[in-house]
Amino acid sequence: MSSVMSCILERRSIRAYTSEEVSKDDVMLLLNAANWAPSGNNMQPWRFSVVMNNRELIKKLSSLTVYHKWVKNAPCLIAVFLDTESLDDKFPSIYLKHSQSIGAAIQNMLLAAQELGLGTCWIGEILKNEDKVRELLEVSEDLQLMAVVSVGYPSGSDLKSKRRDISENIVSWL
Ligand SMILES: Cc1cc2nc3c(=O)[nH]c(=O)nc-3n(C[C@H](O)[C@H](O)[C@H](O)COP(=O)(O)O)c2cc1C
Repeated sequence: MSSVMSCILERRSIRAYTSEEVSKDDVMLLLNAANWAPSGNNMQPWRFSVVMNNRELIKKLSSLTVYHKWVKNAPCLIAVFLDTESLDDKFPSIYLKHSQSIGAAIQNMLLAAQELGLGTCWIGEILKNEDKVRELLEVSEDLQLMAVVSVGYPSGSDLKSKRRDISENIVSWL
C-alpha cells in the first residue's frame, strides 16, 4: 500500500500525548504540507499561528474548549485561520471555496503528522471562542479562526473510530 494510503487509513484523532516536545522542523514540515494543499484560484487563504514550548499559553487556549483536560497536555497547538481579506463581496461563493481549501490544508497537516509518528486532533469546538483565541494569539481581526490542531506524540492508543461502509455513502455511480 502507498504511504499516503496507509497514512489515510491509519490516522486517528489522538487526544493523549506524551510530554515530549515536537521539534520546530517537524512543525515546519506540517505547515509546509498544509501550504501545498490545493486552493481555489491558488489563493492560499490559510494563515497559521503556532504555539509550542509555551505551557502557559497552551493552558489558556485549552481553557477555551470543553476539551481542556487533554488539550492542555498537547505540546503544540496550531491555529488555522482564513484570511478574510481574500474574500470578495461580489463572489460570496468564494467563502465556500476558501473553507474547502482550508479543510484540505488541515488534512494535509494531519497526514504529514501521521507519517512523522505524531498524533493530531482537529478541534472545532473551540471556534465558539474565536475572539478570545485571536486575542491570546495576538492576530488580526481579519483572520477568521477555522480550527485549532493539537499536535504531539501519542500516548497510548485512541483508535476507536469507525466508518460506515463506503457502499452506504455512494449515492449514484452511472
Ligand atoms: C471539522 C472538525 C471538527 C472537529 N472538532 C473536534 C473537536 O472539537 N474535538 C474533538 O475531540 N474532535 C474533533 N474532531 C475530530 C472528530 O471527532 C474525528 O475526526 C471523528 O470522530 C473521526 O475520528 P478519527 O479522526 O479518529 O477517525 C473534529 C473533526 C473535524 C473534521
